[in-house]
Amino acid sequence: MTLEIRDLHAGIDDKKILNGVSLSVGRAELVSLMGPNGSGKTSLAYIIAGHPRYKIYNGRILFEGEDITDLSPDERSLRGIFLAFQNPPEISGLRLLNFMLASYNKRLGHRSNLLFVHDAGFLQRTREYAGLVGLGQELLYREVNVGFSGGERKRAEFLQALLLKPKLVILDEPDSGLDADGLEMIGRLIRKLIDEGTSVLLITHYTRIYRYVEPSRIYVMHEGRIVAEGGLEIARAIDEGGYRKLVDMVVNND
Ligand SMILES: Nc1ncnc2c1ncn2[C@@H]1O[C@H](COP(=O)(O)OP(=O)(O)O)[C@@H](O)[C@H]1O
Ligand SMILES: [Mg+2]
Repeated sequence: MTLEIRDLHAGIDDKKILNGVSLSVGRAELVSLMGPNGSGKTSLAYIIAGHPRYKIYNGRILFEGEDITDLSPDERSLRGIFLAFQNPPEISGLRLLNFMLASYNKRLGHRSNLLFVHDAGFLQRTREYAGLVGLGQELLYREVNVGFSGGERKRAEFLQALLLKPKLVILDEPDSGLDADGLEMIGRLIRKLIDEGTSVLLITHYTRIYRYVEPSRIYVMHEGRIVAEGGLEIARAIDEGGYRKLVDMVVNND
């Protein structure tokens, strides 16, 4: 199993956000996490990546069978966990290409911050992948996300996911703010990651991405709990009655 989360209770300061979440993602498996706004999806993504702001009250996070609950974000990323942000932040003063080179060197185990090209294929691969995700080459030479459109920010995140070849990619609402061409591109990208042996946790609010890529399992989160788990029938139920109906059905049957 690539990722296994067991009975996770977590929050920020005194605010409890996750109330006992368990889920798993297998090797080269696409698993989707859905849920209404505010249900805790982004918090879970940050917690898996090791964001220091969140406190874990109970439960464990296992990555490739090892307990990583107490590891730093850096150590998690070195082990191969990559989070593509819902709202990728701007980093002024740092060009995208240099940012990528620094992450790339780190991923290869070169711990220095020197922007030194250890791998001759770096630039060529970066250019090739930029084409694949539909990001203009000129953006590689601009400051990270500064003045990027919503779609360009998303594409820059995917570019990093492709280049760094992590073992687990968490995509937090990659489909928000993208048009139909963008959706198709994400579908292609996810298939490429899976084909290369990467596991993907796809967080999404909408079912429309399933036209391009089919998850082997869908979890639905509501108020920090997983309230449903299944296949595409869950997506159909959400399309027909929205989250409210699905949650009412499940929670009232409890
Ligand atoms: N920095 C924060 N401080 C306090 N509460 C937060 C913070 N970030 C998120 N929350 C709360 O956690 C809950 C879950 O939010 P979030 O994880 O962003 O949900 P989702 O991604 O499903 O929309 C919400 O009630 C939100 O207000
Ligand atoms: Mg979110």
